[in-house]
Amino acid sequence: MQTKQRDSFGSRFGVIAAAAGSAIGLGNIWRFPYVLGENGGGIFLLIYLILVTMVGIPVMLSEFTIGRRAQRNPYGSFRVLAPGKPWCLVGLVGILAAFMILAFYTVVAGWTLEYLYQAINNGFSGKSPETIKNMFDVFRSSTFRPILWFLIFMFMTAWIVVSGIRKGIEKYTKVLMPFLFILILVLDIRAITLPGAGEGLRFLFKADFSKISTETILEALGQGFFSLSIGMGTLITYGSYINKKEKLGNAALNVTIADTLIAVLAGIAIFPAVFAFGIEPGAGTGLVFKTLPLIFLEIPGGYFFSILFFLLLSIAALTSTISVLEVIVAFFSEELNISRKTATILAVLTVGILGVMVAGSWGWFSRFHVFKQNFFGIFDFTTANILLPVGGFFIVIFVGWFMGTQNVKDELSNGGDIRASYLPVFVFLVRYVAPLAIALVFMNGLGWI
Ligand code: PHE
Repeated sequence: MQTKQRDSFGSRFGVIAAAAGSAIGLGNIWRFPYVLGENGGGIFLLIYLILVTMVGIPVMLSEFTIGRRAQRNPYGSFRVLAPGKPWCLVGLVGILAAFMILAFYTVVAGWTLEYLYQAINNGFSGKSPETIKNMFDVFRSSTFRPILWFLIFMFMTAWIVVSGIRKGIEKYTKVLMPFLFILILVLDIRAITLPGAGEGLRFLFKADFSKISTETILEALGQGFFSLSIGMGTLITYGSYINKKEKLGNAALNVTIADTLIAVLAGIAIFPAVFAFGIEPGAGTGLVFKTLPLIFLEIPGGYFFSILFFLLLSIAALTSTISVLEVIVAFFSEELNISRKTATILAVLTVGILGVMVAGSWGWFSRFHVFKQNFFGIFDFTTANILLPVGGFFIVIFVGWFMGTQNVKDELSNGGDIRASYLPVFVFLVRYVAPLAIALVFMNGLGWI
């Protein structure tokens, strides 16, 4: 085992804030609305909520348990807890997912910077909805801008990760998220008072069972994993920094509730506006970027609100990208025995190359397609809908069947100091419900059953 004292999160608020900082980000505000829009609206929301409860929470708590028990990165954690067994492969799949997610997520974070820049330059005012919708497509297919913003965002992420866990992450996450929350509420209020908003709310909340397709369910599962930052060891890594006195069960529950609330509130802002401005709900990855500026144009003081919003959204994205990069850095530095700085440089170089390809998906590399998908689509689909659920499946199986109930109990009750009365429910979920649900959704979604 490790001899040197590991960094750990200081205060109670620190842990939850950092894990929530990882979970809350573009996944909630950009990805959730666009995937929901493409997958039938209300029915997607319903399935999403069910899966987050039955699968999401158990996977998250399992990750915390593994990480805090082993005090290592995801790969090292499995090696510590199951020496000589192939479980560490799960950690490796997680590291692969981390590379791929960082590559495309940072690209979207770069789009956010472009929108921040536009907001500051008053680039939306006086423009028609048509022009605003076009702006996004023009920007994204340009040659250099998306790549430049991607690189800038990548460097900001790396800079924070190099500066260390506590100082770096905790400081930035704590104070800012409440402001983002308030701004989303402002957007919500404006959106639901737009003429024609009712149709958007109906789309979001009314479950139309005829719109259910096998893909809908897989997309909901993938979105749940993505949004909660689970299935690849982000929260194993963060779990390894959690103080032994923290209540892991509470942390998992609070993070999940906060994450889900933000996603639903983002939906309440976006869909009324989508319908009010005649945007296609299934418009795909550009949906939110085409819709948000239009809402700001309808708000008094929209200029300032839009700057503040895109600034906070960039920061929310940053607290997520640092959590993904942290997985890679913890892995490299602990397993290859190199410094955090060298590890970060290695990671940034690799992700940088992948990300440039992804950022150019509509520009330089627009002619590259596999199964009708560009680089961006491949990375987005493969990570959320395949790598994360596969990782999550093995994580719950490990905790449910292989880690030993006594170990799990010991970790969740902080060595017997607190009562974790939910334990039997948790064990039941990780043993049976979550793995079965993941397996069924997965095989169904890929057309295997
Ligand atoms: N959960 C983050 C978000 O919603 C993205 C993320 C995915 C972060 C996977 C870490 C791991 O924005």
